[in-house]
Amino acid sequence: MPDAMRHETCIRAPLRTVLGGGILLFLGFTLSFSRGTSEAAAPMPDLVTRGKYVFGAAGGCGCHTETKGPLNAGGRRYDGPFGTVYSSNITPDRQTGIGGWTDEQIITAIRLGRRPNGERLIPVHPYPVFNGMAEEDLRALVAYLRTVPPMNRPNRSKQITVPLFESVFLPAWLAAFAAKETPPPIAPTSGLARGEYLLRVVGHCGECHTPRGVTQATDNSRFLAGTPKGPDGDPVPNITPDKATGLTWSEEEIADFLGSGNKPDGDVAGGLMGEVIQGTSAGYKDLTNADRLAIARYLKSIPPVRNKIGK
Ligand code: HEC
Repeated sequence: MPDAMRHETCIRAPLRTVLGGGILLFLGFTLSFSRGTSEAAAPMPDLVTRGKYVFGAAGGCGCHTETKGPLNAGGRRYDGPFGTVYSSNITPDRQTGIGGWTDEQIITAIRLGRRPNGERLIPVHPYPVFNGMAEEDLRALVAYLRTVPPMNRPNRSKQITVPLFESVFLPAWLAAFAAKETPPPIAPTSGLARGEYLLRVVGHCGECHTPRGVTQATDNSRFLAGTPKGPDGDPVPNITPDKATGLTWSEEEIADFLGSGNKPDGDVAGGLMGEVIQGTSAGYKDLTNADRLAIARYLKSIPPVRNKIGK
């Protein structure tokens, strides 16, 4: 594809967060490519279907796809105080994507942020959250990732401008948010536990909706309380059930919104929320009604936090 088109759709507003907004799924996978040793067998169709569902539940991993760009081919630009990074090519291309990685290596990158060569990803890719993804969902997701068209498109290298960022700051930060090495085997299938899993882990709602503290980690004591400056610099609303400053929609209204982008007042989801609902090859809109309702119920059950965003 022409070079001009490649970069036209980058997010231009600078990321205000040191470690990024975490809207970038799988970012940085292949900033340095390393070849795996074994090749996966052709994935089973039902596994692929399930994987695409997980992909949609994660908002379509849209950070890895430029608007109108080839699916999962990376190259979206993110500016932060630490420098500039570009999302990685996560297509199955063997040379420039993740086609040469084993399933295990891909899963380790998704949930532990470690590349096959041991290098750590910058947590703009939200592995502290994806760490909770269930083994079965990860396997399905990887099977799906292997089915999208391979794109030969080299990754752009990141430009870190903060001294000692990767040698000192990043390891210290990661030590503070230590990840569990072993994933939970299965995902909850119903009830509040299902809603919590979809909202906190796969849907990574908190990566945008939770304010960040000085370390730039999400301030989970104010989970989903919104922020005046989200990952792209725009405000992200408070969606806790606080009567004065939060979300007062019914469960059905929330579930409908996640499926259609339509708000009860007739407005439609804009910005990054519009992106995750629409997704890429799949998005939140492709969740079943039961799953959207599970998310809505869980959302209504979290502690209300008073935090006025905008207006
Ligand atoms: C990539 C960032 C991002 C992610 C991930 C995200 N949101 Fe949002 N969300 C936004 C932004 C930005 C808005 C404001 C959109 C607008 O003004 O139209 C928003 C708006 C909303 C609204 C409307 C609130 C209102 O008062 O208008 C709801 C409800 C919502 N999000 C729920 C969720 C849930 C539930 C999840 C996870 C399943 C989620 N969001 C994940 C960025 C995000």
